[in-house]
Amino acid sequence: MGVKNIKYYLEKARKEQWAIGQFNFSDFTQMKAIVSKASELKSPVILGTSEGESKFFGLEEAVALRNVLRKKTRSAGSGQAGLPIFLNLDHGHSFEYLKQAIDAGYDMVHFDGSKLPLEENIKITKEVVKYAKWRGVMVEGEVGRIGTDASKLYSEKFEIKEEDLTNPLQAQEYVDKTRVDLLAVSIGNFHGIEISGIDPNLRLDILAKINEALRQAQGNTKNIFLVLHGGSGTPEDDIKEAIKIGIVKININTELRLAFSGNLRRFLDANPEEVTPYKFLIDAENSVEKVVERKIGLFGSGNKI
Ligand code: 13P
Repeated sequence: MGVKNIKYYLEKARKEQWAIGQFNFSDFTQMKAIVSKASELKSPVILGTSEGESKFFGLEEAVALRNVLRKKTRSAGSGQAGLPIFLNLDHGHSFEYLKQAIDAGYDMVHFDGSKLPLEENIKITKEVVKYAKWRGVMVEGEVGRIGTDASKLYSEKFEIKEEDLTNPLQAQEYVDKTRVDLLAVSIGNFHGIEISGIDPNLRLDILAKINEALRQAQGNTKNIFLVLHGGSGTPEDDIKEAIKIGIVKININTELRLAFSGNLRRFLDANPEEVTPYKFLIDAENSVEKVVERKIGLFGSGNKI
């Protein structure tokens, strides 16, 4: 039997109140670490690449290695089909690039038209959905502005503007007209982490209103899957509450990047004569595994395959 598709796991997550982690990567050491920990914990996993990450790594290379890793996890106890590993093109900004990702074999794509006027966002999202749907690829859309595009440490308090939060009625209109499968929401989350390591609380009240607006509406908005971006540094209790309200996918990038680059830097500083990548990358690889382990525990996705 083949790997069950991503929709199967999103539905299971919603029913059982847990969430699937999307972990971003831009090199194979990170990719391998994410999959190795997910496989050990028997957790379905989404591997994310932004446009920048995928241009560095290669769209076709990412797909080929997803297939190799799926196959390899069969022998690690993930069953005949291998670990459910899915690839998402994160924050795509044009139809053309998302089409390339779909053609390459990605399982899902995220169109980020959140900086466009709603009508324009709807228009391009519809094109993406039309192309993706009959190829069996899921589409994530976005309404409301999620903090910043950069993945970094903020030394000052990050200001969330009220007008950037997702408006429940706009979310309803967007989902109804575009028929996306997943919706990324802006509820006080942002990409990156405050220097303290803990970000301000999420606006769970807004999340509950968005969820209610979508579930109550007639038509095709009821089955939408809600996504939380900017998962690094988010207070853990807020993550647990957000999952209870309806979040089923959570994106993590900055914590992985900090762990990887910090450990690599430390190792090379302490061992300036070490030039062998398979030796100097070990600490960095282990540090990515530790972040993934903590997040899978927090999201409750272990032992769900
Ligand atoms: P963080 O960098 O805050 O973890 O956010 C990642 C993200 O949302 C990628 O889409």
